[in-house]
Amino acid sequence: MSAARRILIAGNWKMNGLQADGVALASAVADKLKAAGDAAFDMLVCPPYTIIGAVAGAASGSGLAVGAQDCHIAEKGAHTGDISTAMLADAGCSFIIVGHSERRTDHGESDGDVKAKAEAVNAAGLKAVICIGETEAERDSGDTLNVVKTQIAGSVPDDATAENTVVAYEPVWAIGTGRTPTNDEVQEVHAFIRSELAAKLGQDTADGVRLLYGGSMNPGNASELLALADVDGGLIGGASLKADDFWAIAESCP
Ligand code: PGA
Repeated sequence: MSAARRILIAGNWKMNGLQADGVALASAVADKLKAAGDAAFDMLVCPPYTIIGAVAGAASGSGLAVGAQDCHIAEKGAHTGDISTAMLADAGCSFIIVGHSERRTDHGESDGDVKAKAEAVNAAGLKAVICIGETEAERDSGDTLNVVKTQIAGSVPDDATAENTVVAYEPVWAIGTGRTPTNDEVQEVHAFIRSELAAKLGQDTADGVRLLYGGSMNPGNASELLALADVDGGLIGGASLKADDFWAIAESCP
């Protein structure tokens, strides 16, 4: 973590939570954040679409940001079942996750799709959290850096800025498994991501972009991960569904 980059602790609730659960969870986190006063970190929760409005209401005035987990690239139109960035902004979102590995796998999203979504997010004045990461087979065959390089080249908009873009490195094999890379492996990939962003966007931008680690981050491993030089926060799935665990992760910021 660098002093110039504020840590971002982001919760990806995935397909979990009815209205009452989501409001209770967001309210508990919002209360802790308010009680903490001048927190040295930013916090974000990304609930399912159906409860974004209710969660945004619960988070209002606390500093807790609200985001979505995906979006469509068009502003409106004949796209049955889809949701636009303008609608998400209207519902209270300031961030949108794009290219999560579950979207890439379950919905066949390509790097090009992810880049178009990130561009749509930025065009709506919102911040994109762009997810990348290798599979276990790719890690085992020594391909991690190549995979990440291709994903950055293909998924990150060419005019991305430090203000409108966050990159989340999430090894697919670490998501929801309780397994994580070693601290050295995480730092190696994060430093590599920053150098690739520098080549693409310039050093100043790369130095300002927040790089989140995601994949089985929990209160037990967060302090070591968040202390790594190029880790500027976490994208947290399972452990973000319990206010105490999510808060404990935030409190482990260096
Ligand atoms: P996990 O999920 O923390 O449950 O591993 C992280 C993610 O998929 O964003």
